[in-house]
Amino acid sequence: MSKLNCDVITIFPDYFLPLDLSIIGKARNSGLVDIQIHDLRDQASGSHRSVDDTPYGGGPGMVMSPEPWAKAIEQVSGQRDFPLRTLVILTPAGEKFSQTMAQKFFQADHLIFACGRYEGIDQRVTEYFRSIPGFTVIEVSIGDYVLNGGEVATLVMLESIIRLIPGVLGNPDSLAEESHSLPGGNLEYPAYTKPASWRGLDVPEILLSGNHALIHAWRMEEADRRSQRIARQTGE
Ligand code: 6GU
Repeated sequence: MSKLNCDVITIFPDYFLPLDLSIIGKARNSGLVDIQIHDLRDQASGSHRSVDDTPYGGGPGMVMSPEPWAKAIEQVSGQRDFPLRTLVILTPAGEKFSQTMAQKFFQADHLIFACGRYEGIDQRVTEYFRSIPGFTVIEVSIGDYVLNGGEVATLVMLESIIRLIPGVLGNPDSLAEESHSLPGGNLEYPAYTKPASWRGLDVPEILLSGNHALIHAWRMEEADRRSQRIARQTGE
């Protein structure tokens, strides 16, 4: 099993300090994943190290200039020798991130995350790298809301991808059982722990029965009920 190699390009490297913590921090220390964070401004020319400019066609805000992005992406590509790379461009206009996408990205040798800010990255960056052999380029959003930039979206994606790497989770059974891995993309069933009675609320009897077949059936039903309730709420 080869390790997962990730590069993140951003104008706010400090956003990624939490990657030293917890399960991801441990995965990095034990060599299961290599994540390098790069400052886009290192590729900016001029004394102001500017990485953005006004939009053609007018309108509010600023657009990130293509050349610093191309230089940064080429630099991180030169540092790792892989025939195939996946360039993930974070934008609220991208394809919606999902568990299926996490599984696909987990199988890549080399992932490059380009964290856009402001009104986004000049569209020619996507177009340009789509024309370069060895690059798969995908524009990704994590949901239908607007963030200030792709940094938090990248953290979300990294967490969901890295936990799929064998050896990262203490108990590998957690992966098979959980939400979205369940048949039909179901949400997970409710969980309970001790005490059996708490502030007048009791744990469902069946979970104390010791009958594993019945417990399994009950959990699948509850998972179904949850998914149907949420589908009604979101109108899907
Ligand atoms: Cl990837 N970027 C921004 N700026 N906003 C988002 C997003 C990404 N995904 C959802 N909202």
